[in-house]
Amino acid sequence: MKILVTGGIGHVGRPAVARLLAHGHEVRVLDRVPEADIMAEVAAEVRGAEYRQADITDYATLRPHFEGIEAVVHLAAIPDPIPGKDAEIFATNCGGSFNVYQAAAENGIKRVVSASSINALGNGYGIREIPIHYFPLDEAHPGSTSDVYSFSKQILEEIAAYFWRREGISGACLRFPWVYDSRWFEHGHEHAGEFRAFIQAAYEGLMALPVAERREQVQQTFARLRELQAQHQNGEIDDDAMMTAMRAMPAAALTFGRNDFWAMLDKRDAAQAIEKAVLAEYEGSHPLWIVGSHNSLGLPTQGLASLMYPDVQTWTRPVEGSASLISIDKARALIGFEPEYTLGSAVPL
Ligand SMILES: NC(=O)c1ccc[n+]([C@@H]2O[C@H](COP(=O)([O-])OP(=O)(O)OC[C@H]3O[C@@H](n4cnc5c(N)ncnc54)[C@H](O)[C@@H]3O)[C@@H](O)[C@H]2O)c1
Repeated sequence: MKILVTGGIGHVGRPAVARLLAHGHEVRVLDRVPEADIMAEVAAEVRGAEYRQADITDYATLRPHFEGIEAVVHLAAIPDPIPGKDAEIFATNCGGSFNVYQAAAENGIKRVVSASSINALGNGYGIREIPIHYFPLDEAHPGSTSDVYSFSKQILEEIAAYFWRREGISGACLRFPWVYDSRWFEHGHEHAGEFRAFIQAAYEGLMALPVAERREQVQQTFARLRELQAQHQNGEIDDDAMMTAMRAMPAAALTFGRNDFWAMLDKRDAAQAIEKAVLAEYEGSHPLWIVGSHNSLGLPTQGLASLMYPDVQTWTRPVEGSASLISIDKARALIGFEPEYTLGSAVPL
């Protein structure tokens, strides 16, 4: 198949392009970076792909690059919220995404797979926590975005649905959590045991308390963390002071990853999901949760969630052991996604 990958020289794009090439597809990478400026090691990862420089926000110059293409993987975006850049993020992530789907439609392409995000739900970067109605989270759970990056992913999913209704472009918007490269964790194993013991002790200590006391301690920790974060942002305390204050609060250790429901994903599994979402047979436009198999702290998931999300009382099904708090059942059924890589429990996160 001849596949165009926008943002194909980025962090998620490179392993996806490499996987598609390895499986015999023809790949055209489209990115705004001039070819001459691409670092040698980056170019090496996508060797074998054709390269086109274009900006997704400029429709007239974008459109011709879609000629001869059978499916699109759309990853190009500003991938984080950047203070002061709201208009640019909206223009790139929403306007640019509209242009990509429009160019696909005008070239008769019937499959577009996009990178949405865990942030389409609105929990991590928003100005307020969103109400969680039940666990495990699935695609039916309502979101509530209140920052432009998360909103841009919510809109991306709407754009994809619009192009399915209007043009019959089927596809998936893959809701990735933080996508890591396992090589980032190659060093630091010497602290792994210590870190695990700290997390485990914090968890067990809290679980041993009567429910009301445990809840009180967690609420106090959340309040203190908000204070510390404000002081850190205002420059009143430095990183070291912040870490020292956090270490004094056992429950604080369990908040690492909480906003993302302790979900993470190996970049090779992101690539697997991308390829499967391109090739699988299905109709419609689908947001899909694509996350790793386990929570990042390696703790019992239901216990962890009951501690850190004490208001959530509804479980639509049990979650065994440290399995993910986000359900990938829909991705399993629709595209056959199954995460293959995990950091295991031996690595400090
Ligand atoms: N990395 C993660 O942890 C993560 C998690 C969830 C979702 N995502 C999503 O996955 C996608 C890829 O993210 P990434 O981490 O690889 O980001 P990245 O910044 O490494 O790659 C994005 C690529 O898009 C290109 N790009 C940006 N604006 C462009 C434009 N106007 N025209 C053409 N190209 C443009 C950049 O040059 C870059 O090569 C994004 O949509 C991001 O929101 C990433």
